[in-house]
Amino acid sequence: MPGLHGKRILLGITGSIAAYKAVEWLRSLVKEEADVTVAMTEAAERFVSPLTFSALSGHGVHRDLFDEAPDRVMAHINLSREADAILVAPATAQTIARLAHGMADNLLTAAILAARIPVVICPAMNSFMLNHPATQDNIRRLESFGYRIVQPNSGELACGEVGDGRLADWDAAREALLSLFQPDDLKGMTVLITAGPTREALDPARFLSNRSSGKMGFALARTARRRDAEVVLVAGPVQLSDPPGIEVMRVTTAEEMRQAVVGRAAVADVVVKSAAVADFRPAAIAGHKIKKTQYGGHLDMVKNPDILAELGAHRPLGQILVGFAAESQDHVSEGQRKLREKNADLMVVNDILGVQTGFDVETNQVTLVDCRGSVALPLLSKEETADRIWDAVVQLRSGPAGI
Ligand code: CTP
Repeated sequence: MPGLHGKRILLGITGSIAAYKAVEWLRSLVKEEADVTVAMTEAAERFVSPLTFSALSGHGVHRDLFDEAPDRVMAHINLSREADAILVAPATAQTIARLAHGMADNLLTAAILAARIPVVICPAMNSFMLNHPATQDNIRRLESFGYRIVQPNSGELACGEVGDGRLADWDAAREALLSLFQPDDLKGMTVLITAGPTREALDPARFLSNRSSGKMGFALARTARRRDAEVVLVAGPVQLSDPPGIEVMRVTTAEEMRQAVVGRAAVADVVVKSAAVADFRPAAIAGHKIKKTQYGGHLDMVKNPDILAELGAHRPLGQILVGFAAESQDHVSEGQRKLREKNADLMVVNDILGVQTGFDVETNQVTLVDCRGSVALPLLSKEETADRIWDAVVQLRSGPAGI
């Protein structure tokens, strides 16, 4: 089941100007088919009408601790019983202080105090309020309770100042929610992932590259982070934004990718080479655009370094090395050959000719190949495929069971 589909989320909205952004967040949740119930504080209602949230969520908005409607009695207890997670966005300094001190003087804080489900808090406020030792202390207290804090962004604030305190992006909050529903079986591990194509210049106007979109590598990075790994992502030129909580190194050429990867591989517990590295590059880069009249009918090319093979030859003890193989035929035998030749633990073979498995699509159908055999996975989203690859990595790390 992909993403937040079917998850029951209690969305708590408190009195910050950023409450208007919660409207968009609610829409995103509903689009993903999460089942969202909204609870608002009195101050939040001054910024956005409860009607907006009830219309978008399809449920009445919970507002009052002492509501006498029959279905609302004991709402502060029932609200969290009927949810899988609580998301407080935006969370004001006031609500954070209340929660830090166990105060249950409104419906939302009472519901959170009574909850036995995960809580995600997204602070939003003026930067002086945020950086005040009282607020910082309160946020640390919330962390010590096991609440997950989605740190606010820096930038222009509604009060006209520039600084910390802007509500985080939805992407960061969504990742925090998704991680609640994942095992933390990559905790304590550093994983290094490569993604996308490389680009090899021919002259100032032209380059050689391939059709890799980077989506599989970015899906691997996001899913590893959700499973609590420290993630370093080395990405070739792709149209994808940095996933939250991940160190992203942007490179262009195979040689730049090699340098970035070799520099970080020694301390990685797992390396996944999902990048489509260009095997060849032009022997020389022309300083000026090559004119039609200068072109003699062929290009001189030289081989690029094989990064995976280099990693395989010098891998530290215990490191798990995963390669990808883009194939149009003989998938398993080609996977086995590359596994051996590059000294990898696992090869993920994908069929580049399939309509739903080739370049730049949202789905993939891969075969996992290790020294014991192979397993063909069904057609899945790239994130689901990524999770199956991590399952295989966890198995490889824990013993000789094989895939
Ligand atoms: N790879 C690499 N450096 C290269 C070429 C490939 O690190 N110069 C890695 C890829 O990231 C992938 C694996 O090697 O993990 C296999 O890549 P693939 O393009 O399928 O295979 P090649 O080694 O290029 O072999 P062939 O051209 O015979 O298919």
